[in-house]
Amino acid sequence: MTFEIHDTIITFPPLVDCHVHFREPGLEDKADMQSECEAAYHGGICAACDMPNTKPPTQTIEALKDKIARASRFPDKCMLSFFFGATSLAHLAELETLWTDPTLADVKRHCCGLKLYLDNSTGNMKSSRAVTEKAFALCGRLQIPLVAHCEQAEVNDKAASERPYDGPASHSVRRPAESEVASIAEAVAMARQHRTPIHIAHLSTAGGLDLVRATRREDPTLAITCEVAPHHLLLTTEDYTCCGARVKVNPPVRPPRHHEALWEGILDGTVDCIGTDHAPHTLHDKANMENPPSGMPSIEVIVPLLLSVVAGRWPHPTAPRPAALVARQLAHGDLVRLLHTNPVRIFNLPVDGLRRPSFDLAQTWIVEEAQLHSKCKWSPYQGWTLQGKAVV
Ligand code: NCD
Ligand code: ZN
Repeated sequence: MTFEIHDTIITFPPLVDCHVHFREPGLEDKADMQSECEAAYHGGICAACDMPNTKPPTQTIEALKDKIARASRFPDKCMLSFFFGATSLAHLAELETLWTDPTLADVKRHCCGLKLYLDNSTGNMKSSRAVTEKAFALCGRLQIPLVAHCEQAEVNDKAASERPYDGPASHSVRRPAESEVASIAEAVAMARQHRTPIHIAHLSTAGGLDLVRATRREDPTLAITCEVAPHHLLLTTEDYTCCGARVKVNPPVRPPRHHEALWEGILDGTVDCIGTDHAPHTLHDKANMENPPSGMPSIEVIVPLLLSVVAGRWPHPTAPRPAALVARQLAHGDLVRLLHTNPVRIFNLPVDGLRRPSFDLAQTWIVEEAQLHSKCKWSPYQGWTLQGKAVV
């Protein structure tokens, strides 16, 4: 499936956001499935893959069934699939049962894979080395997509011990680029050993992207894919000046040379998907001066942000357009690849029959937080002028 343009209206195949945190159950002060499905709908996103760091975490078949029942209340706005989480061998045993017990086929079809945190993030779901190794082996044996949050705990812990948290900008120093690169190297080694289909979540560094390229060259039959988040494409460490804790995220925003490299990766096909890592927190949570939580929302603006880039309008109000985008334009077909074809294939998503979203390419608009549908009602892209808006 591809896109069609009539006059100023473009219609895409069902667009997918393969990395979201809709916060239900347990964290409904930040967001819930209804509010975030509404935000997805108004942003032209038709399906989303929800992460397991809820309360309780999605580490049992019971917890997964509960999420499936909750999501079935809003069948028309956004189809949700769910990642399983694991921090113990018992969770892996549950995942194995889910994948192999034929009586659970109806539950399994809503599960898009396993998410492993290789260092702590919101929810503190870091998986130990022993569990990580077993998870790679299980997912290799059963060919379950394994999504890895790659940051290396030892590198982060050392960096954090050398630099106390003294404001949002210190976050990028306390969780440095080397940590992601070291963690991707370890994850790739385990995936190669166990033949695990591995997907690197929110890849944020030039070095990480090079490792993906090198692995594909050296081991062409390994199913290795990666995703990049909009904040790593559009924001850098320079944005702490304007936006402070709002742009504090894991992995952190990086110095500009990394986002230059990520755009190269988008244009040359190394990057398979754009996943928003839509991670709403309340402004009250973000106002915590001690150490505010990491994560930011973006599901409602991701497609307009990218359509603006396709239209030749670099949307950042002050930062320069990356060199890669001066040399080559992003095209509508790239959006189909990044937000439909690749995520549907990698996570085996049942998108047939979902609505096809339309956008008015001639509509220019300004992001106004009060008008967004996400429950937290703020955006790191507040005030940005975008071109292209979902027709709802
Ligand atoms: C995510 C969250 O808040 O749930 N935060 C983030 O900074 N990305 C967790 C995660 O995906 O790491
Ligand atoms: Zn995430």
